[in-house]
Amino acid sequence: MSDKITVFKGDGIGPEITDAVLAILDAAGAGLEYEIFNVGEAEYEAHGALIPEEAFASFERNKVLLKSPITTPVGKGFRSLNVMMRKKYDLYANIRPAKSNKAVKTAFDNVDIVMFRENTEDLYAGVEEMIDKDTAHSIKIITRKCSERIVRDAFEYAVRQGRKKVTCVHKANIMKLSDGLFRDVFYEVSREYPQIEAEDKIVDNVAMQLVMRPQQFDVVVTENLYGDILSDLTSGLIGGLGLLPSSNLGCGYAMFEAVHGSAPDIAGKGIANPTAFLWSACMMLEHMGKNECAARIRKAVDEVLAEGSVMTPDLGGTATTAEYQRAIIDRL
Ligand code: NAI
Repeated sequence: MSDKITVFKGDGIGPEITDAVLAILDAAGAGLEYEIFNVGEAEYEAHGALIPEEAFASFERNKVLLKSPITTPVGKGFRSLNVMMRKKYDLYANIRPAKSNKAVKTAFDNVDIVMFRENTEDLYAGVEEMIDKDTAHSIKIITRKCSERIVRDAFEYAVRQGRKKVTCVHKANIMKLSDGLFRDVFYEVSREYPQIEAEDKIVDNVAMQLVMRPQQFDVVVTENLYGDILSDLTSGLIGGLGLLPSSNLGCGYAMFEAVHGSAPDIAGKGIANPTAFLWSACMMLEHMGKNECAARIRKAVDEVLAEGSVMTPDLGGTATTAEYQRAIIDRL
């Protein structure tokens, strides 16, 4: 695999955390070459395209994209570029690991949940229309093909990583056909993996269980909307959005991004926590077979957090992004 990767700088805190992460990757000797593109609102205002054609071409050549957050207008304007990228490249598996870090004080210890969120259909298919001026329809699409591949990926991951249980999250008591299909496919696929416990739970119950007894969850597989919401919840269990990385995998293409958005409330202040994006970069290094480099970066982050004097404000500290970046590079 090529060591050249595509990088999207994004909006809000995107450019700040991208600069920090690329500096750390270089200091760790990741041996990567970057094709860097500005994308999003600022790029649109400057050059008239949200994502320049060359940026797509670069991803299509390199197959690996490190993408920082992009702002999406609420209720109007262009469709989410994040959703568009996932659909265009069929990045169907959104994997979001939420793991407690001893150094970060939270309500629970030992949270270790890996969420597999289906990334291409459900209500995110974007099939919406106004029936009349007071009635909007949004179509939820669930197919056997897309359900089967995400469920199989979750079980395969459980086997590879020595995990014990996969929980299917749905609302099949109400959406009997769509969520019913997802749940049925889950149990069909689960029969191929008798060594892994398979269970299903209704999404509202899961929301409550996650904040009461999160340690009961191991691998979770769910549809697009529930996965989007519940994974932000799991970030809250481990110390916030600044700590939750993700990968978006499809057939041949891989995109790595933090779960959080462009955080306009803190953009430009130099205080964003780059850890979630850095850990996404570590998932990328592992995807590229650079496991040793990823492990070294993870160790340096753990040491800085454990030492505790250089933390960004979201973790209760006063450090800037640049100071935190320097502390990690010093450890490397
Ligand atoms: P957000 O995730 O940007 O921010 C939520 C809260 O978490 C804010 O208080 C923010 O300051 C904080 N936060 C997020 N990341 C942080 C970090 N790295 N360090 C410290 N604090 C952090 O969610 P919000 O405000 O709902 O969305 C802002 C924009 O981002 C919207 O346009 C949304 O559509 C977009 N978005 C983009 C995503 C992507 O590109 N994958 C994902 C989620 C949202």
